[in-house]
Amino acid sequence: MARRAKKGRVLVLCALPYTNGVPHIGNLVGSHLPADIFARYCRLKGVETAFIGGTDENGTPTEVSALELKITPKELTDELYEVHRSIYEWFGISYDNFSRTSNPTHHSTTQDFFRVIYRKGYVSEGVQRLPYCEKDRIFLPDRYVEGTCPVCGYQFARGDQCENCSTLLDPVQLVNPRCKVDGSAPVFKDSGQLFLELGKVQKRLEEWISTRKAWRSQVVALAEGWLKEGLKKRSITRDLRWGVPVPLKGFEGKVFYVWFDAPIGYISATKEWAVASGKEDEWKGFWLDKRTRVYNFLGKDNIPFHTIFWPGMLFAHGGFNLPYDVVGLQFCNYEGDKISKSRNQGVFCESVPEAGLDPDIWRYYLIHIIPETRDTDFKWEEFKSRVNNELVANIGNFVHRTTTFAWNNFGGEVTRKRWTAEERELLRRASALAREAEGLLESVHFRDALSRVLAVADLGNEFFQRKQPWKMINENRSDCEEVIHTCLLVAEQIGVLLQPFLPGSAKKVLDLLGTDDRSLAKARKPRRAFKIAAAPQVPFKRLDEDQVQKAKALATRSRPMKDYFAARKGPGSVAGLDGL
Ligand code: 2FM
Ligand code: ZN
Repeated sequence: MARRAKKGRVLVLCALPYTNGVPHIGNLVGSHLPADIFARYCRLKGVETAFIGGTDENGTPTEVSALELKITPKELTDELYEVHRSIYEWFGISYDNFSRTSNPTHHSTTQDFFRVIYRKGYVSEGVQRLPYCEKDRIFLPDRYVEGTCPVCGYQFARGDQCENCSTLLDPVQLVNPRCKVDGSAPVFKDSGQLFLELGKVQKRLEEWISTRKAWRSQVVALAEGWLKEGLKKRSITRDLRWGVPVPLKGFEGKVFYVWFDAPIGYISATKEWAVASGKEDEWKGFWLDKRTRVYNFLGKDNIPFHTIFWPGMLFAHGGFNLPYDVVGLQFCNYEGDKISKSRNQGVFCESVPEAGLDPDIWRYYLIHIIPETRDTDFKWEEFKSRVNNELVANIGNFVHRTTTFAWNNFGGEVTRKRWTAEERELLRRASALAREAEGLLESVHFRDALSRVLAVADLGNEFFQRKQPWKMINENRSDCEEVIHTCLLVAEQIGVLLQPFLPGSAKKVLDLLGTDDRSLAKARKPRRAFKIAAAPQVPFKRLDEDQVQKAKALATRSRPMKDYFAARKGPGSVAGLDGL
């Protein structure tokens, strides 16, 4: 077992995105950004933290997208892994390991996991009748079969559901079924599969969910709904070639269902990170030590998998830590409508850097639209007003006016000799707000936490305005120095608190103030002297209408998937499945 962490351990996990698309702003605010804020907060608290993510590369989503693009799954996933990785890096998402489920460690970890639950009797064998495309030589996922709805006659009903009358369907029920990829009529074949006997863990899941008092109510409600219906066995294998091979006699040529192997990716990516950082056994502290808290961040469509299916797998296996919190987020829309790549309706992450704005400007606004408890909306007007009226006019203005005043009037060196009751009161109020912000970060309420940072800047601005140091400097230089010292302490508090939210800007502020101890408020003592190292620069600039319009024009363009592969289409590229 790995050594015991003094201040505890936190494992922050973000749902692994499929490599069949490129993230849009809704994906970013719906999991990666909140997970990053939380991981940064935990590190600042001095808790041993691992922040793990990666791409979910196996199974149907990849295989079908590759088929549509006429490239191999490997070509698709190699390219999209890089696209995902670089986008998260640009937005400052501080993954300790952003891995891939095509990596060898993941394959072996998944197979070992399976062997354990098989041996323990949680896996059964059975038969499924599935649509098979003879042209593409592939079993088709339900939603890739299209046909006429037997209920309402709609001609383009999907194999899993009719979009016209909402009836839940099975592909065998469709009249004139056809393969969505090439239009040919599928045949139906029986296929032997393995099933996870979820019924065997129902009771343990019920008990566990009933003790999750601190979870968001909508997450608990969804989980309870599933449990109430009664858990049925669920197939965990597929007749595909791209994925983790099933290590069982009689199942050669089959791979695991993507939702079986993907969450195991959390474990394999933690192992991979521990090995890469030379602390091979460290992963055990995160997964086997019961004192570790595991936080899962994910969109609402992933809630059932993280409250039922994955914990069910964990109960069947035994030993590994269950999620401590399942932070299930809602959806983020765009200007009152659903985000849609085909209609260029949304902000598309691959195009955001071209807009030429600092990542922290985006983060500032995006934190306000993290869909913590209900669906939210990206709005350009609000983007501009929040940045200008809050970040620039409040936080930026306070930090800048304070540091430039110190620089221009005291050569950057400001020392305190005594305290007034008023100054003590101001700092007490700022500390109280800082503690509130920390409490809100701890309970994963980021928008409210950030509002406390704004409130600290409000306090500072109000004090600066009331004291009028620009007058005091000519009347009583020593009192003025004290006022500015107080303001610098408040600015430092803001810099410290901003770290999980706007890491780049917080660093600039704290570098300027020469802050050594950047730990969160409780542990820090007010300093007696400041020495500002260089002439302060404006930390955040106002956005003018032209900039916003330019950003809008650029960031709302989505790059068609085929363009990522256009350059590769040479004789070496293989069409369809032949190159698998
Ligand atoms: O919905 C999705 O994008 C899935 N790829 C999420 C998987 S989360 C986990 F289990 F890895
Ligand atoms: Zn219908």
